[in-house]
Amino acid sequence: MEALTNILDQPLIINAALSLAGFILAMVVLPRFYPLFIKAGLFGKDMSKRVPPGKEPVKVPEALGVIAGAIFLCIMFLFIPIPFWRSWVVDGKEEFPHHEFVEFVAALLSICCMIFLGFADDVLDLRWRHKLLLPTMATLPLLMVYLVNFGSTTIIVPKPLQPLLGPALNLGLLYFVYMGMLAVFCTNAINILAGINGIEAGQSFIIGLSIMAFNFYELTRKYPESHQFSLYFLMPYTAVCAAILYYNWYPSKLFVGDTFCYFSGMTFAVVGILGHFSKTMLLFFIPQVFNFIFSVPQLFHFVPCPRHRLPRYNSKTDKLSMSYTKFKMKDLNILGKTFFKLYWILGLIDVRQGVGEDREYVECSNFTILNLMLRIFGPLHEQTLTIILMVIQIIGSCVAFFIRYKLAGVFYDV
Ligand code: UD1
Ligand code: MG
Repeated sequence: MEALTNILDQPLIINAALSLAGFILAMVVLPRFYPLFIKAGLFGKDMSKRVPPGKEPVKVPEALGVIAGAIFLCIMFLFIPIPFWRSWVVDGKEEFPHHEFVEFVAALLSICCMIFLGFADDVLDLRWRHKLLLPTMATLPLLMVYLVNFGSTTIIVPKPLQPLLGPALNLGLLYFVYMGMLAVFCTNAINILAGINGIEAGQSFIIGLSIMAFNFYELTRKYPESHQFSLYFLMPYTAVCAAILYYNWYPSKLFVGDTFCYFSGMTFAVVGILGHFSKTMLLFFIPQVFNFIFSVPQLFHFVPCPRHRLPRYNSKTDKLSMSYTKFKMKDLNILGKTFFKLYWILGLIDVRQGVGEDREYVECSNFTILNLMLRIFGPLHEQTLTIILMVIQIIGSCVAFFIRYKLAGVFYDV
């Protein structure tokens, strides 16, 4: 009995064991779902692979993120009683930490909603404006719990701004707008850094590991509870993500689908919000922030945005090169022209002028970090491009740790 009590008092170890079980389960079951997904019409064409003449392109099962999400949820549902068992059984019901319990369940509700809405997106192929709306809806339960439980919308003002604004600032409603936008950003930023084998799962895996490293370090410091809470979610998440990455790596046996991107982004947003480290969490998204800002002119249609901006495949060389968007200069509005010229001057895009029959068209490479890498390095093999992006993600995490532990003292008392 005592041995059992000792084990139950180690929620992180139980969570790690469940995560390992989740990883093994995902490794075993994911391939078994391929025929079911293909039969249900949930498949895509790998646009960067050779198709032998006279043959149909291979059908790659898509939206397998839903299976990873389901395994994650099962682990979490089994885990729910573990951190609370002592308060319930030993300490007496009056002491039960209802506020922590409701945070836990609301976090799961938000992630669960996001998986459901992401899967709806994969099945129905929703439009961009809906993609922005879905994460906002899914965060509402979480924000509600944050409001009732924590309530404070006051932030500490960075030191250089303190003479102007004072030591603390109450953001009120704006604080909730910020948190809602955080979820929209995390989910979509992963979804638009996509299109080559292994990239969605790879970036999420590195972000997951980086936040976990941050949490483990912080366990020994000021507020261990928030970081322990974050680890309860991130260990199972990273475990199922590892299995997805294994099968999604070049050459992909499965596509993760928007379900996975939303599931990942929401999990990161949830732990950042409820763990009270949303600013640090965003630091681990440096490549995504860059790709998102770079993409803004196309996302908001100041410059035409084709349905797919992934790099173009050359079957003769088996390499990827930049993909382009085509338009007439006079069709761009003032913002479109400004962004286009700015990016051109900065050397971020490749431009071809006088294209088309009447030579009135301009072509420029799509505004993504993938195309930018191909502009810098020239045509690359798909796997090489993924590895470059993974290296950038790891460097981004190192920079994040540097900012958090070496530079943060300039702005905050840490
Ligand atoms: C986002 C991007 C889009 C990019 C697409 C690729 C924006 C605004 N949208 O759209 O530019 O082309 O992701 O995922 O930036 N695919 C591959 N190889 C891969 C992964 C995906 O060929 O390794 C193709 C497959 O045909 C797959 C499709 O991309 O079916 C999935 O695209 P989807 O996730 O539906 O695109 P979006 O997220 O809408
Ligand atoms: Mg997608």
